[in-house]
Amino acid sequence: MSIHYIESTKTFHLQAGNTSYVMQVVNDGFLAHLYWGRKVSDYRFANYLQYADRGFSGNPYPSEDRTFSLDTLPQEFPVYGTTDYRAPIVQVQLENGTTITDFRYDSHQIVNGKPSLEGLPATYVESDEEAATLEITLKDKLSGMKAILSYTVFEGRNVMTRSVRYINEGTESLRLLRAMSASLDFRDDDFDFLQLSGAHVRERHIERQPLRSGTQSVESRRGASSHQLHPFIALLRKNADEQHGDVYGFSFVYSGNFLAQAEVDPFDNTRVTMGINPFDFAWKLEAGESFQAPEVVMVYSHEGIGGMSRAYHDLYRTRLARGEFRDKERPILINNWEATYFNFDAEKIEAIAKAGSELGIELFVLDDGWFGQRDDDKTSLGDWFVNKQKLPNGLEDLADRVRKMEMEFGLWFEPEMISVDSALYRQHPDWCLHVPGASRSESRNQLILDFSREDVCEYIIKSVSAILASAPITYVKWDMNRHMTEIGSALLPADRQRETAHRYILGLYNVMEKITTSFPHILFESCSGGGGRFDPGMLYYMPQTWTSDNTDAVSRLKIQYGTSLIYPISSMGAHVSAVPNHQVNRTTSLKMRGDVAASGNLGYELDLTKLSAEEKEEVKQQVNDYKQIRSLVQFGDFYRLLSPFEGNETAWLFVNKEKTEAVVSYFRVLDAPNAPFRSFTMEGLDPNKKYHIQETDEVVGGDELMYAGIAIPANLSGDFQSLVWHLREAK
Ligand code: DGJ
Repeated sequence: MSIHYIESTKTFHLQAGNTSYVMQVVNDGFLAHLYWGRKVSDYRFANYLQYADRGFSGNPYPSEDRTFSLDTLPQEFPVYGTTDYRAPIVQVQLENGTTITDFRYDSHQIVNGKPSLEGLPATYVESDEEAATLEITLKDKLSGMKAILSYTVFEGRNVMTRSVRYINEGTESLRLLRAMSASLDFRDDDFDFLQLSGAHVRERHIERQPLRSGTQSVESRRGASSHQLHPFIALLRKNADEQHGDVYGFSFVYSGNFLAQAEVDPFDNTRVTMGINPFDFAWKLEAGESFQAPEVVMVYSHEGIGGMSRAYHDLYRTRLARGEFRDKERPILINNWEATYFNFDAEKIEAIAKAGSELGIELFVLDDGWFGQRDDDKTSLGDWFVNKQKLPNGLEDLADRVRKMEMEFGLWFEPEMISVDSALYRQHPDWCLHVPGASRSESRNQLILDFSREDVCEYIIKSVSAILASAPITYVKWDMNRHMTEIGSALLPADRQRETAHRYILGLYNVMEKITTSFPHILFESCSGGGGRFDPGMLYYMPQTWTSDNTDAVSRLKIQYGTSLIYPISSMGAHVSAVPNHQVNRTTSLKMRGDVAASGNLGYELDLTKLSAEEKEEVKQQVNDYKQIRSLVQFGDFYRLLSPFEGNETAWLFVNKEKTEAVVSYFRVLDAPNAPFRSFTMEGLDPNKKYHIQETDEVVGGDELMYAGIAIPANLSGDFQSLVWHLREAK
């Protein structure tokens, strides 16, 4: 890893892992992008920047060179109004109402390590030797605004992070109308655009289409990163697939409104822009104030989509997630939500917990309905005190009973919400996001607390902390079940109302920071109606996320496969639930449900007391088997082998770093009559090692498994089948 500045050519060359990133200060201080891709030892401009007089692409004054236009220059920090007509990274409004800026290179510095981003989640290092950071300062004379662009490269990783700090160094008050985190111009457009889109109970489905002229974008205006569109895009070379080819990933470390886009210009440059969604955003900066834009994590892989994913997995698992559970095996849990919904009492909970403990399950999670008067979703959010009708002896007593069964005790919260029918709302009707005079739209019968307000945040920190301190709780599920409407805050002045959505996210990050660090022994799992806020921002505070409210094993193949493009397996909650499945009414085998859930952080979410003796035996076996492979699954390298988006079969493989042990899972959704024989090849094994396959008691070479493949037994019959092979190096 290194960052070089070559004074004679004013060139920055960043190197890390197998990658190089090259920029140059050209003309009167414009920061041009030259190259990002496979590592080159010494960039000598064989592929130099070329200039031509292009009609209708103007020339920035005072240049008299008609071939120099920002409209055609590949850049790192583009602005609008001075000849570039493509998407700008920033837009600043001056007191005179104008919005033109002209940022030029001012200075730079290279520092060891990686400075943190004030108030925001970001990747980090544990020692300064792990990374180096380049900070380039650009200045705009018109507004007095300074932009500090940060680029961090990490030792041995094909990763670069980018962010921008905007500082008002002028004398007047400025308004940021757009303050994106990263922009870069590829010098061609020979790419496909990959995104992860979906809906509630259908999250992160992979979509790939060729780039075309104009803009392709994904964004959220929902106040959350969302189930619908994901804060991630990748550009793929046309020949790139799971194993081969160049892939460029862009992942945004933020949980609110975002915009990610690729714009192809008439000369086949592709501009990627990522940051907080400028839609309905503005931020006032008084003289001397600054604004920190969140981080973009960029991965280059020449080993296809799989290589990109493994780079994200390693970084996000070890240098984004934090806390004492980061490197710990995650407990196998039983959650009562799909077992009881709101309809439970202490006796029922104890019965489920007892059944769980007899099966070897390690953690009981009490879901929604334990507080206030909450017997359905119409009431009590905000009233974080125990529902004595349901739990007459309180939480501590229940937690103690569960712990006597040798299980830990976990609890559900939805701290950001308020029900109109709650003591909190009756006392503080102005504590929710709202616009004066407008009605307050409900979603799941609830409103959103205004986390842009300090008093609201303080109240939530206090009331949630009081419950956490009141009982031996070692796990929290932090839920969030609606998106923002009527975005306005009672405390902000008129000219700051458009700051509300981002201030909310900053408030949320502050609340989560305080609570998670005050209770370091609690494992936090984030959730938003399943995977509606499965994003890197949340992972910084909570090392795992409930992947989806859809627990159907077949649906989960796509959801978990898509999620694995970016997120490490240790971050994905996956539960076995009852059949017919509550979301899609499908009946799958208990084996397949177990094998799909064992491909993430295994949990159960059904009434265990209703299982037959045989089913209990099977679950007991699943739990036991998972304990044998848990660290491999949660912390190993992950290889996708067959895609559920391409056919009836899915397969993936987990292998340890030493390549001495692997687990391979295969799933077939539907059986077919008189079907062809099937096999598939593995990846990620050591071709020079021999592996003992536990299930068949055979010894086979890694080379054979990877090049010749493994057969699916023809006698595997029926729908919803799965197979697992556990491989260990044969001595
Ligand atoms: C949505 C979550 O995703 C579910 O798992 C469950 O916790 C419910 N909320 C409870 O209201």
